[in-house]
Amino acid sequence: MDRTVVITGASRGLGEALARTFARAGARLVLGARDVARLETVAHECGGDTIARACDVREPTQLRALVATAVERFGSLDVMINNAGFSVYGPLLDTKEADFDEMLATNVKGVYFGCQAALRVMREAGRGLIVNVSSIAGARHLPNESAYGATKWAVQGLTGVLQQEAAAFGVRVTSLVAGGIATPFWDGREYVPFPRERLDPARDFMDPAEVAEVVLDVARKSDRFVMPEVMCLPLIR
Ligand SMILES: NC(=O)c1ccc[n+]([C@@H]2O[C@H](COP(=O)([O-])OP(=O)(O)OC[C@H]3O[C@@H](n4cnc5c(N)ncnc54)[C@H](OP(=O)(O)O)[C@@H]3O)[C@@H](O)[C@H]2O)c1
Repeated sequence: MDRTVVITGASRGLGEALARTFARAGARLVLGARDVARLETVAHECGGDTIARACDVREPTQLRALVATAVERFGSLDVMINNAGFSVYGPLLDTKEADFDEMLATNVKGVYFGCQAALRVMREAGRGLIVNVSSIAGARHLPNESAYGATKWAVQGLTGVLQQEAAAFGVRVTSLVAGGIATPFWDGREYVPFPRERLDPARDFMDPAEVAEVVLDVARKSDRFVMPEVMCLPLIR
């Protein structure tokens, strides 16, 4: 695919799977995350035109630098995937202010300014695709995720507004509303938003590579084709 793609949070999990999937499809990649050693391994394994850059999405200047790298090195930005995110699960009564602030900074501010950095470039080009990785936590009400859910409902809201503003520039915006994906996201959790006796993330959740294929399909659609929301849920028996 003749596309330049920027992916945040590409050092592991879904972001890593997106990087590998888009690399196999022939895309030029700029990958961002904080764990640079891990990110460089992913970039090396992607091969071809793949660049790894330290990027903490809580810092808008670092998001702008990530996007600038794509333009400087590859001459364009075709697809921006705002994927970086994390959660601390637990009852509202136990939620620490610092955890709340970190989720807000990463999941909302990071996506918001990732969109702004990308849209500034895409507006000039008159085309482009922004994919915001949301969650079923932003479309349902589940226990133990009041804080994380609040951030993903915010992503849904800002994505809906951006869809309308970006359309005026020929830019498409998609929200990926994903259910459980088998990634390190679930490692070592005290609380989860589902009954543990019924669900085991490693057994019941989606393969990140399969979810990444869905995003690749979205990116392959023509510029005249908008998919405002893509929902993927594991089939729970
Ligand atoms: N796993 C699921 O079931 C699931 C379901 C729906 C939606 N999601 C969403 O999917 C996205 C990816 O999650 P995942 O499952 O792949 O989680 P993960 O395995 O924990 O990976 C999270 C990624 O985000 C990066 N990241 C976290 N904070 C960052 C920051 N401040 N700046 C830059 N990168 C940061 C991490 O890299 P560094 O630590 O190296 O920075 C890592 O690459 C998140 O937005 C998550 O909310 C996940």
